[in-house]
Amino acid sequence: MSRTPLIAGNWKMYKTGPEAVETAMELAKLCSDVTDVDVMIAPTYLSLPLVSTTLRDSRIKVGSQNLYFENQGAFTGEVSAEMIKAAGAEYVIIGHSERRQYFGETDLSVNKKIRAAMGSGLKPVLCIGETETDRDEEKTFSILDKQVSNGLKGLSFDELGNLVLAYEPVWAIGTGKTASVDQVDEVHQYLRSLLEKLFSNDFSDKTRILYGGSVNPDNVKELMGIKDVDGALVGGASLDADTFINIIKYRDL
Ligand code: 13P
Repeated sequence: MSRTPLIAGNWKMYKTGPEAVETAMELAKLCSDVTDVDVMIAPTYLSLPLVSTTLRDSRIKVGSQNLYFENQGAFTGEVSAEMIKAAGAEYVIIGHSERRQYFGETDLSVNKKIRAAMGSGLKPVLCIGETETDRDEEKTFSILDKQVSNGLKGLSFDELGNLVLAYEPVWAIGTGKTASVDQVDEVHQYLRSLLEKLFSNDFSDKTRILYGGSVNPDNVKELMGIKDVDGALVGGASLDADTFINIIKYRDL
């Protein structure tokens, strides 16, 4: 099965509303001739409605960087899946390592968030990845297995139809250290067979598995050339439209 590549930009806690709109407008112009790749950007919650409106007539989709799993209620500071959807988002990033590391996200909260996303028709981008210590201790595969199995526990492949998986080795995020082709190849093959084991061959075959961690215009083509890599989740290099477009148009490099 052929999977349309997805190039996604995670803007993390960067850009005010006006700055986000400006970059989104630049990107929309630069992307006007892109047809063979799906593109998504995830600005802060505050910029979601502004960026969604800006990109209404473009083919760039918008995603949120997080959500809270309850529908509504007395949960000061939180934002629900419904609210994110109503703000114009189509995707939601769940379980990013920065949320696991700094905000106490666990596989259990990830699981609840995936359910909430599915319930509202948002497409979850489930982030997983090992730390440097995990890798040194040869625990990479057991950590990834746990993050995927527990994160998706109790969900059927019908419910998970729009899932995207993002492998982001924690040691490669924001460090300029990209995983080697062999490391990415090995992990993505492992994840593809894990999805087959947990769900089905069809599900595994149609689910996009992105790589993230210091992706830039110089390494994207090589990474996208790996058989089971179906896209990239880009942090720093997605903040500037002129840089990000080179990643989106990796085929032209
Ligand atoms: P960098 O591309 O800045 O390493 O960030 C990757 C990331 O965390 C995307 O979610």
